[in-house]
Amino acid sequence: MDNKQYWTAVATSEYIKGDKPIGIVVHGIELVLFRDQNQCVRVLEDRCPHRRVPLSLGTVCEGRIRCAYHGWSFDGSTGACVDIPNLDRGERISPRYRVKTFQTCERDGFVFVAPSSEKSEPPGVDVENNPPSELNELYGNSCIAMPVTEYVAALLDGPETLLRFGGVGVSDFFLGDPVYRGNWLVCDREASWDRGSKPPGIKAISRPLILRVEIERHKCAAKVWLLNADEEPLAVVTMGFSSGMRSTTTLCWRYRQFPAWRHNAPVWLRLFQLLGLSAVDVYTSIPGDGIAGLLKGPSRHLELHVMDQHKQVESGGELSC
Ligand code: FES
Repeated sequence: MDNKQYWTAVATSEYIKGDKPIGIVVHGIELVLFRDQNQCVRVLEDRCPHRRVPLSLGTVCEGRIRCAYHGWSFDGSTGACVDIPNLDRGERISPRYRVKTFQTCERDGFVFVAPSSEKSEPPGVDVENNPPSELNELYGNSCIAMPVTEYVAALLDGPETLLRFGGVGVSDFFLGDPVYRGNWLVCDREASWDRGSKPPGIKAISRPLILRVEIERHKCAAKVWLLNADEEPLAVVTMGFSSGMRSTTTLCWRYRQFPAWRHNAPVWLRLFQLLGLSAVDVYTSIPGDGIAGLLKGPSRHLELHVMDQHKQVESGGELSC
């Protein structure tokens, strides 16, 4: 499937600020993001039409992006060149001097981009019926040194190699086979509160938690939930990803904690968090041996689904979720 046609969360809202434009590669397309004078996020191709210098090397000035090389300025909504320094009197700016623009919107604390020109309503990252979350929000933007397909597969087969909820250990046990719920492939694993230093010989027999990984069917978004045994949400990491340059993954994520976390978390964990233990770590540096050692499990379902879709396309059928 070509993911260029889908809206993708490419950055957290906080990441796009100030006078420094941000260069991001989304589905292999080099983009530059910045805020205009009205604080709307604008997304352009990251290439000056003059000498092809990346516009992300420039600056944002009065809500327009100015190229670092010869100082041409471009309007974020139209992509048109609106200023060229040292133009002779009477000289006009050619309408040919224009940068390609992309549809964008902000929702749920993410900036979404539609790499195709298709007009459509962007999706929210969050699923319906989410309970209200609390203030405790962490977020990040990074470039991961592995291909996006492998990142998604590792999220399903071994999420502990990519992230960790503070004070939570994940077991090897899957709670049934992955299933599709609407557009999301859902996979549950057993988990438990874990201090990480149990006395030797004593095993934790109670596993009161569930780690649920949901992968959006276009493989542009994921949610990793921490649930209690009644499947009540305690916390969630919402992720947007796409393929970056040279087989990397462009990743943005947000963590949200729900009121139920406080009622379920053990006292020692609440204390540890007060003393500075991070509520979540989403790894930016991923050890190769951890990934290489993962057994192929739930990710097979994603592959089978993609194969089914290809077969349907080849036979001229309608795509299903
Ligand atoms: S290369 Fe951008 S203004 Fe010349």
